Amino acid sequence: MHLSARARAIRPSVTIAIDSRAKELRAAGEHVINLSAGEPDFPTPDFIKQAGIAAIEQDFTRYTPAAGIRELREAIAAKHEADNGVHYDWDEIVVSGGGKHALFNTFMAICDPGDQVIIPAPYWVSYPEMVQLAGGEPVIVETTEETGFKLTADQLRAVIGPRTRAVVINSPNNPTGAVYSREELDALAGVCADAGLWMVTDELYEHLIYEGEHVSIAALRPEYRERTVLINGVSKAFAMTGWRIGWSASPRPLAKAIAAIQSQATSAVNSIAQKAALAALTGPRDAVTAMREEYRRRRDLLVEGLNRLPGIRCPRPGGAFYVFCSVAGVLGRQLGGRRVEDDVALAEVLLEEARIAVVPGTAFGAPGYLRFSYATSPDDLREALARLERLLA
Ligand SMILES: Cc1ncc(COP(=O)(O)O)c(C=O)c1O
Repeated sequence: MHLSARARAIRPSVTIAIDSRAKELRAAGEHVINLSAGEPDFPTPDFIKQAGIAAIEQDFTRYTPAAGIRELREAIAAKHEADNGVHYDWDEIVVSGGGKHALFNTFMAICDPGDQVIIPAPYWVSYPEMVQLAGGEPVIVETTEETGFKLTADQLRAVIGPRTRAVVINSPNNPTGAVYSREELDALAGVCADAGLWMVTDELYEHLIYEGEHVSIAALRPEYRERTVLINGVSKAFAMTGWRIGWSASPRPLAKAIAAIQSQATSAVNSIAQKAALAALTGPRDAVTAMREEYRRRRDLLVEGLNRLPGIRCPRPGGAFYVFCSVAGVLGRQLGGRRVEDDVALAEVLLEEARIAVVPGTAFGAPGYLRFSYATSPDDLREALARLERLLA
């Protein structure tokens, strides 16, 4: 059967094997604690759900303009003005099927064959694959625990070449939880501006910050705004992963190109979810604050618990809902009747022997680490820590 080179080049996700096995075990009645999820465990706040229901009842169920309804794009522009201090006109916003789709459209609009996109590792799993699907070439730059898993301006300068087109900056970061400071972002943006690169800033976890502040590169200087594609969405902050609403904000010529690509590929996101997102962005933020405070407590519980375990070192991240801990001190040990050589094998042992699902660092381009999500109940976190303690004892 013929498959395109593009389809053949897509790497199967390292997480799929773990996820399928976890589901199998659950189906067999096992109590698997899932710390691998990348989504809030809270329900969507009630007033947002009501806006979705009202949209259906009012027959708001037809095609909308491909880039989204004007009201929602205006609300997104107002949000960026108020929260981030950066001005966009409503027609510089394109509403897409989640931040993920907004990112995909962006790479389709900025990459020519062979163009390079710099991606700091550890990275969110989809960036390199999306760049490749768009015909570009991902250039992975490893960051280390010493810099808090943050790309430095010197590292960036050193990898820029004649074919470099863009760099991806994700703060707060998935999988590390790292939050870049204003100074760090300014230094990176200065390098990009000198080299004439696009900055794709993935700000999905903006509202989940426990230490430090969220800074949008586009807000720092007018010339940065002209080189930035700001990606955001409602999935993480408002517990709306299934509604599939995200967006890009970018200078008008690029926004037009992104809208044109989307208009031919998928048209607009569903009309009902657009109304729900409008309610989310214009409504009260108490639910967001309450969820953030709960995540903070869970983060502290998990970080403290993990750091008490032999062979595990877990920095306290400033944002998102993940911890990314080094398991170098566990590798090479005999666990559950087998020698655990790497993080992928350790993740398998955790699932088979302790019924805990986590994602190995290898999935994010960072072997020797595990990502634990704390978007799950404190009871489950405590139980997972107790199981880990027994396994590692
Ligand atoms: C860093 C990052 N960016 C973007 C997304 C996409 O989220 P969505 O498509 O739900 O908006 C995710 C989701 O896991 C993410 O972790």
